[in-house]
Amino acid sequence: MVSEQAQAFESWNGLAQQARGLLAGENHRIANAANLAALIFNSVPDLNWAGFYFVEQGELVVGPFQGQPACVRIAPGKGVCGTAMVTRGTQRVEDVSAFAGHIACDPNSRSEVVVPLILNDEVIGVLDIDSPKPGRFSEDDARGFERLAEIYVESLAG
Ligand code: SME
Repeated sequence: MVSEQAQAFESWNGLAQQARGLLAGENHRIANAANLAALIFNSVPDLNWAGFYFVEQGELVVGPFQGQPACVRIAPGKGVCGTAMVTRGTQRVEDVSAFAGHIACDPNSRSEVVVPLILNDEVIGVLDIDSPKPGRFSEDDARGFERLAEIYVESLAG
């Protein structure tokens, strides 16, 4: 019997493979973001929002997503998304109410992961994932979303 951790890793491998297949041969920024958001939202359990913000004229603007309607613009350094943008680091938030400056687009969100999208050393946007469950995302989950973000960024060059 495989350990729970090995099972989780297997499922991230499977999802990464599906993402690669889904984006293969296409490099359109919006099309690939839309399909990847739909894949994540429908594959990862217990999510209430999955999608993209893109940097436009120095701020984040909402892109393709699945879930409730969201805040359109987020300034650099604001909220979990703006923090990922300026620090260029993945933000894994176990309890959004304890994150100073968290922006509550959907009041049902309890935990969140935001991964910066870095292309040619430039932050072009973020991948944002929300859950209604507190502490939903493990370190492995954060690494899994980083892999998906990398697959997305690589697809843009294809
Ligand atoms: N909670 C995010 C805002 C975006 S929504 O979750 C879709 C934040 O604090 O940046």
